[in-house]
Amino acid sequence: MTPLRDTTFRKIVNLMHEICGLSFPDSKKPLIASRLAPRIQRLGMEDYDEYVSLIDSPQAGGELQMAIDLLTTNETYFFREQPHFDLMERDLIERKLRNVSVWSAASSFGDEAYSIAMLLGDLQRKGTIDPHWSILGTDISDRVLRAATQAVFPEDRMREVSDERLKRYCLKGEGESEGLVQIKPTLRENVHFGRLNLTEPIEDLGPFDVVFLRNVLIYFDGPTKVEVVERVTSRLKPGGLFFIGTAEGRVKTKTRLTPLGPGAFRKEADE
Ligand SMILES: C[S@@+](CC[C@H](N)C(=O)[O-])C[C@H]1O[C@@H](n2cnc3c(N)ncnc32)[C@H](O)[C@@H]1O
Repeated sequence: MTPLRDTTFRKIVNLMHEICGLSFPDSKKPLIASRLAPRIQRLGMEDYDEYVSLIDSPQAGGELQMAIDLLTTNETYFFREQPHFDLMERDLIERKLRNVSVWSAASSFGDEAYSIAMLLGDLQRKGTIDPHWSILGTDISDRVLRAATQAVFPEDRMREVSDERLKRYCLKGEGESEGLVQIKPTLRENVHFGRLNLTEPIEDLGPFDVVFLRNVLIYFDGPTKVEVVERVTSRLKPGGLFFIGTAEGRVKTKTRLTPLGPGAFRKEADE
């Protein structure tokens, strides 16, 4: 296959920025080339130029989504950055919230959403919250959303889940499914997934008591970060909790957020 030319790389970068706000520095050229190459070969195309002409045309259909799926990074696991979950639990108890709604705003395969579900499931069992809690997971990638709905995970991604919770909320695979774990239907019924592009206006969503927007801002450039944080925190109830990845630094917003710890904020009540 012909190597990825600089001009074609630029076209891909611009397209991805336009569509989902993703920002790829020049150093990511080899990564983009290696992620797209198998797909291009599978389609029987000659080179990257032919592929870009397809995804940048009105005939792109599902192929544009396929390219987004290939170029987004979906790494995630259960109870990633545990202090956020501990803080949320303490806060829900202190605020005596009964009907809790949570948004996992870049949910990837759903590990984050089901981690929250386990926590809320436990609080429900103790009678701390009502049974009508709900979690919405959204992402731009159809592929991860399909997997999230099926709720089947490799055991390795559940390494931070306690044995007690594994027993209570999960079914262990046997035979061909050895090494896989499925979330039980009782927990799944309060968790829903849908497609949402964070860089586009959001209609009719929330407001939520808690929003997780973790490990996605790193893929956006400065102005897009600000725009996305503003859009997402507008869906958070005053007094609600907002989480970003601990490595994602401080966020600039018009919405007044009080820092509570690394990557953790409370939306001020007088907003
Ligand atoms: C690294 S994962 C983070 C998963 C989870 N929040 C966590 O912290 O473990 C980033 C996710 O952001 C999604 N994403 C990237 N750009 C997006 C956009 N413009 N709108 C919505 N989701 C996006 C990707 O598809 C990917 O699943």
